[in-house]
Amino acid sequence: MPQAIKKAVFPVAGMGTRFLPATKASPKEMLPIVDKPLIQYAVEEAVAAGCTELIFITGRNKRSIEDHFDKAYELENELTIRNKEKLLSVAQNIVPSNVACIFIRQTEALGLGHAVLCAKPAVGDEPFAVILADDLIDAPKGALKQMIEVYNQTGTSVLGVEEVEHSQTGSYGIVETGELDDKQRIVNIIEKPHPDIAPSNLAVVGRYILTPRIFEFLSTIGRGAGGEIQLTDAIARLLKYETVIAYPFDGKRYDCGSKIGYLQATVDLGLKHPETGEALRNYLRTLVL
Ligand code: UTP
Repeated sequence: MPQAIKKAVFPVAGMGTRFLPATKASPKEMLPIVDKPLIQYAVEEAVAAGCTELIFITGRNKRSIEDHFDKAYELENELTIRNKEKLLSVAQNIVPSNVACIFIRQTEALGLGHAVLCAKPAVGDEPFAVILADDLIDAPKGALKQMIEVYNQTGTSVLGVEEVEHSQTGSYGIVETGELDDKQRIVNIIEKPHPDIAPSNLAVVGRYILTPRIFEFLSTIGRGAGGEIQLTDAIARLLKYETVIAYPFDGKRYDCGSKIGYLQATVDLGLKHPETGEALRNYLRTLVL
């Protein structure tokens, strides 16, 4: 069995420009879907997959994320006085007590690759997971848990992938794969290729399991597409030396970094939520022509 994945990195330092003005003073990962911020869905997925060290790479509006995962004395006191035990337990159990949260500042938003490189002092020389909270994945068995099962068989890096519309390849890291036993081995990866040159429509979405060798490449690649230090470019180097698997996870992904994806997630999860499901369904019926 390869070394266990215990550390999960959450890059939350992006500018979130597609969600302005909501993201002017608050990170997009704090946008709520029904009653939980995006980052909490991501953290719950990592904890359910067995991660016990959560490393947040924060940027300029970091405070609300730190506060969300910290103890809220005043709120807890108020809820205790008002005998709101159920809500008190919600506020107290954001993360289990055996889980540690570490916050690292990315001083400049130089790209996702740079954000992951900022995690190096906390990750050290072990394989680790990366979760992008704005890709919310609703799955009976969490996407990261499924990917860790693949990693436990192969001991290699594993990227979560999904087929996208061919016209959309310019918004994603796109992979070309070959067969490796019953799995798909990545032979090529390109950041945001125009549909005319995209090698496939298989897109990397916000879930990664990476071996620590990725740091070697992240520290040397320099800026790529959009002038940013791209994780995709470092993975392109990694696959020259190590096997990297593409894994089409089972689950529905919502691109909550885009307005439409965010609204779709709100409707679907609102319909599933025990407090809002029935009322929302009734309301939506009144809208359908
Ligand atoms: P995006 O490509 O979605 O960029 O980043 P963004 O800045 O967050 O959003 P837009 O495009 O301006 O609306 C993908 C992920 O990488 C993180 C983001 O927080 C997001 O989770 N990221 C990106 C960083 O942590 N640091 C960076 O320098 C860039």
